[in-house]
Amino acid sequence: MSATVKSGKEHFSVLLNELISIISPLYSGTFIDCTFGQGGVSKKILENSNNKVIALDRDKKSIINAAKFKEKYKDRFIFKNIKFSQINEDKFVKDNIKAIIFDLGYSMNQIIDPDKGLSFESKGKLNMQLGLNEFSAHEAINYLNQKDLEKIFKYFGDEKKAKIISKNICITRKKNFLKTQDLVNIVNKVNFKKKSKIHNATKTFQSLRIFVNKEVSELIFGLINAFKILPIGGVLAVISFHSIEDRIVKSFFRIFSENKNSSRYLPINEKRKQLFKLLQRKPILPSKEEIKINKPSRSAKLRYAVKIHHEEDFNQFINIFKNLLEVENLSEKI
Ligand SMILES: C[S@@+](CC[C@H](N)C(=O)[O-])C[C@H]1O[C@@H](n2cnc3c(N)ncnc32)[C@H](O)[C@@H]1O
Repeated sequence: MSATVKSGKEHFSVLLNELISIISPLYSGTFIDCTFGQGGVSKKILENSNNKVIALDRDKKSIINAAKFKEKYKDRFIFKNIKFSQINEDKFVKDNIKAIIFDLGYSMNQIIDPDKGLSFESKGKLNMQLGLNEFSAHEAINYLNQKDLEKIFKYFGDEKKAKIISKNICITRKKNFLKTQDLVNIVNKVNFKKKSKIHNATKTFQSLRIFVNKEVSELIFGLINAFKILPIGGVLAVISFHSIEDRIVKSFFRIFSENKNSSRYLPINEKRKQLFKLLQRKPILPSKEEIKINKPSRSAKLRYAVKIHHEEDFNQFINIFKNLLEVENLSEKI
């Protein structure tokens, strides 16, 4: 999925106006852009000359774009090439942060980047690393056993044919290391659909990208750490692109926004401090016009909340996603 799409030379940041209208009443102050990418969100915030942006991105290719921002906005702009799960109080100014923004997913520049090998069209070795990773899709596909691969495809991609795909991967890789097109061919043979809007390998590739980039723990601990550095009254805003991301964001906001037993994830009679004021329960979705101009925006969901209390204990939230975190930890076997 992609939040920023390249069309000719133009870039579109998804739900940008909606996002800015949420945070603009808070002008002016410091904003943390956890997913700098092409800088669409940062740029819009910096249009107000009283604002400062601290931007992060795990992709080292974003350093080049960040350097241009630094030249233009001087000390109103700071960039760090880190993962957003690494946000902590030591690295950031604690007070005066008005909002922390996550615009998840990938930019089209990353999808078409042959070095990253994120697309089914990529030729050559499997990779899928966004940056600051511990292993690649090549290692996952060629070294994990059949059962573990099956879990990755099932839990992260909801792939119905996970078992047969992982079996065929293990048979085929006996001859040679599997490359991107070998994986596409294996999935195509198993998942053959005559007429389908989505590519046969979409789910398999999505699950591998989630696994290689540890997207589940990145988001869980990114949200928790962002919450910790956000002052009372600050806004946390997240744009997600697939159902696992949205489930994590939705439960984070809902669990800590209600004292009643409204969350089906929690035991009855569970009393909890309200950490957020949820101004809108339903996510904000892109308009028909936006989807028309920028098709991948159709799966985007924007959720946001205002922090009203501090909290240190997030174990109950983490436990909801225990199964997914266990699948992610299969990487320790590589
Ligand atoms: C959809 S793009 C952001 C686009 C940006 N908001 C814009 O308007 O141009 C998502 C960006 O988040 C970065 N990213 C993804 N996961 C990350 C993580 N865990 N930590 C830091 N950056 C991450 C990606 O490298 C990518 O550049």
